[in-house]
Amino acid sequence: MNAVAIVYAALLYASAALLVVGVALKIRTWARTPAPLKIPTTPAPRTQGGVALRLGREVVFFESLFRASKWTWLFGWMFHAALFVVLLRHVRYFQQPVWEPIVMVQAVGAYAGFAMVAGLAGLWARRWLVDRVRYISTPSDHLHLLLLLAIGASGLAMRFFAHTDIVAVKAFTLGLLRFDLQPLPLDVPLLVHLGLVAVLMAIFPISKLMHAPGLFFSPTRNQADNAREQRHVSAWAARLEQRP
Ligand code: HEM
Ligand code: HEM
Repeated sequence: MNAVAIVYAALLYASAALLVVGVALKIRTWARTPAPLKIPTTPAPRTQGGVALRLGREVVFFESLFRASKWTWLFGWMFHAALFVVLLRHVRYFQQPVWEPIVMVQAVGAYAGFAMVAGLAGLWARRWLVDRVRYISTPSDHLHLLLLLAIGASGLAMRFFAHTDIVAVKAFTLGLLRFDLQPLPLDVPLLVHLGLVAVLMAIFPISKLMHAPGLFFSPTRNQADNAREQRHVSAWAARLEQRP
C-alpha cells in the first residue's frame, strides 16, 4: 500500500462525508423554512402537476435561462448536459459488474469531456467579456469555473495524453466503497484530478453549487398559482390559527 493512497482515501472519505452531511443539513433547513407568501413567477402553472412539469423543463432544458440569455443558455446548458454524461460515464469506477446503460454511455459520451470544458470556457469568457457580468462577478464565481475547468482538463489529459492505469484506479475506488484500501497509481494528472474532486465535494454544501438542490426549494418555482382557489397558509401560521 502506498502512502499516497492512504492520504487520498482519507481526503475522499472526509470530503464525501462533508458533501453528504452538508447537503442533507442544508436541505433540512430549507425544507423547514416556511414560505409565508404565494410568490410563483407568473405566468405559473395552476396545479401541482403543472408545477412538476415546469420544474422538469427547468432542470432538463433550463427554460427560463433560455428566455433570459441565449449565449449563457448555450454554454450553460452545454456544460451541464456534458457534466451529466461525464458523471454517468464515471459510474463504471464504482460498480462491478457495470450496468448495461452505463456501458452504452461510454461510447456515446466519449467526447462529452470536451463539451464540458468548452461550455465552461464560454461561461468563463462571459464573466470577462460582458461588462455588466464582469462588474458583478466575485472571486468565488471565477474560482468555481476554474475548479471545474481544472477537473475537466486533468480528466481529459488522462484520457487522451497521459494515460493512467484505469484498472488500478477502479480497484482503488471499489476498495474505497468496500473499505478495503488498494494502491493508487502515482500519476500527476490523476492526483490533481482526485485532489480537485475532493475540493469540489467539500465546498459543495457551502457554495453556490447548492443551486442544484436549491431549485426544488425555490418558492418562485415550486408553488402553484392557485391563491384564488385555495387560501395559502404556511405551516407555522396554520399552527397559530389552530390555537384556542
Ligand atoms: C439540478 C441540477 C442543476 C441545474 C438545474 C442547474 C442549473 C443552472 C443554471 C440555470 C445556471 C445559471 C447560469 C447563469 O445564469 O449564469 C447554473 C450555473 C452554474 N452551474 Fe448549475 N445546475 C445544476 C447542477 C449543477 C452541478 C451539479 C454543478 C457542478 C458540480 C453545477 C455548476 C454550475 C456552475 C459552476 C454555474 C455557474 C456558471 C457561471 O458562473 O457562469 N450545476 N446552473
Ligand atoms: C472520485 C471520483 C473520480 C474519479 C476516481 C475519477 C477518475 C477519472 C479517470 C481515471 C479519468 C480518465 C478516464 C480515461 O482515461 O478513460 C477521468 C476522466 C474525466 N473526469 Fe474524472 N474522476 C472522478 C470525478 C470526477 C468529477 C466529479 C468530474 C466532474 C466534475 C470529473 C470529470 C472528468 C472528465 C471531464 C474526464 C475526461 C472525460 C471522460 O473521461 O469522460 N471526474 N476521471
